[in-house]
Order: sequence, then structure tokens, then C-alpha cells
Amino acid sequence: MASSHENLIAINGVTHAYGKDGDALPVLKNLTLGVPLHGFTAVVGPSGCGKSTLTRLIAGLMRPDEGEVWLHGERVSSPRSTVGMAFQNPVLLEWRSILKNVLLPLEIVPTDLSKQEAEERALHLLHLVGLSGFEDKRPSELSGGMRQRASLCRSLIHNPEVLILDEPFGALDAFTREDLWLTMHKLRAEEPFTGVLITHDLRESIFLADEVVVLSDRPATVQYTVSLTHEAQPSLDELYTSEALATLNELREQIRIARNDAEV
Ligand SMILES: Nc1ncnc2c1ncn2[C@@H]1O[C@H](COP(=O)(O)OP(=O)(O)OP(=O)(O)O)[C@@H](O)[C@H]1O
Ligand SMILES: [Mg+2]
Repeated sequence: MASSHENLIAINGVTHAYGKDGDALPVLKNLTLGVPLHGFTAVVGPSGCGKSTLTRLIAGLMRPDEGEVWLHGERVSSPRSTVGMAFQNPVLLEWRSILKNVLLPLEIVPTDLSKQEAEERALHLLHLVGLSGFEDKRPSELSGGMRQRASLCRSLIHNPEVLILDEPFGALDAFTREDLWLTMHKLRAEEPFTGVLITHDLRESIFLADEVVVLSDRPATVQYTVSLTHEAQPSLDELYTSEALATLNELREQIRIARNDAEV
């Protein structure tokens, strides 16, 4: 099968099951999706349909039973440092300062940056997300939203080509979450990456992504796709236009269909 070079991330006909033979749980079925360079795609779908599994395949943490995952024209078969990940509950190391937490990936996977350059980059990222002045604090001295900001900086420290976010804001209150959405737009403008965002929050999906993909229930395949355009510096008011509300309703309807179609 061709590798869809026009897309930085290309998922071609991926099928995957956990377990074997009679005990196999089919999770993804002939799933195809692509994300262009510097595109940002949100993936929504019923709980347990296989979204986190998809992120593990993109990150090279697992290989699909069938089909292929390509990043930048190379077939993915193992984890790579050009992929950054962030999750719902970031694990920051309590005995390290915020700055040292952000620098941690560089200790695990070496970089060309000098120690001073790496530190400057970490400080720059912390500044971008509004954490200047908190570099020397311990994680427990920060709020949940601040910890998630620090975790985003850690995911970006390697300047990854691809950023995979699996419900990164799911544990935050609604106002903090909206602040983080604005921060994401800022980060994207300053540190262009190609992203995949898994979320249950449809408003989040349409505010952050250029494309929203609705997955069917397990075994998941792409059921529906919506393309979006944003202002260069979007404000939360965008979410209250009639166009946005129509898109939200369209997505809600698609999720409803995905869940109703599911065998419960
Ligand atoms: N390591 C694993 N071994 C066996 N089964 C697994 C494993 N990881 C996930 N599963 C199963 O695969 C299915 C899909 O899980 P996955 O975590 O990908 O779903 P999800 O869409 O991310 O769900 P949620 O929206 O609740 O986060 C679930 O039924 C889950 O129980
Ligand atoms: Mg999940």
C-alpha cells in the first residue's frame, strides 16, 4: 500500500485486536486517517472504542495486526523521540523542580542542545504557557491546570514533529480547561507541530482542531469527519457562533449514532 506522503501522519487500513483467537477483542477495524504537516486532528468517539489504542499505535508503542502507520514517510515500528505525548493525569516527579521535570525527556533521549540551550528552551516553553516564576517549584505546589501546562512543556521539549494528546484536559474544571485551550493555540502558533487530540469534549475538539474525526464504536473505524477553519488568533467567542453550534449539533448526532449502533 502507498504511504500517503502528503500526510505527515498516515494511518492506512489499521486493524487491531487485543488477545488471541477465541479471546481476541477487536478494537480497530480498517481505520484510515491522515493528518497533514502542522495539521491538528481531534478524535472523538464512544468510550472504550479504541482511541487510546490508536494513540499507542501512532506512538509506535504497539504494532497493528494489519495495516500501517506512517510518520513523515517512514513506517512506524517502534517509539521515536520525534513524537511527544501528554495524558489526562500527568506524572510529574515530586522530587524534581518544574524546570527539571520539563528537562527530563532530554536526559532519557539525548539531544543536540547544550545544557544551557536546553534550559533556555525549557524556560521559553514555561514562559509561553504562563509558568514563568514557577520554574523552581515542586509539582505539588502547582494547581492541576498548572501541572498540565508543565506537562505540555515537557511533551514539547524535544521539539517533536508530532504531539499526541490523550484527553489532556479531561480532569480540569471548565474554566481552567478553556484557559488551556487558549494556551494550546498560542503554543501551536509559536511551536508548530502536527497533532492528534483525543477528547470527549466536543467544544474542545472544534475549538482546537482543524479536523474532527468521529470514530464508530468498537471495533472502531472512521464514521464521520468535519473540517474547520479558525481565525489566526481565535477567541472563545468562536464557540458561540451559529456555525459552531451547528457543527456541535452535527457531531453530537454522529456520536449518538455511533453509540446507538453499538452492541451493548
Ligand atoms: N492493554 C490492553 N489489553 C487488553 N485490552 C485492552 C488493553 N488496552 C485497552 N484494551 C481494551 O480495548 C478497548 C479500547 O480501549 P481504549 O483504551 O483504546 O479505548 P478508548 O476509546 O481510549 O476509551 P476511553 O474513551 O474510555 O478512554 C477497551 O475495551 C479496553 O478494555
Ligand atoms: Mg482512552
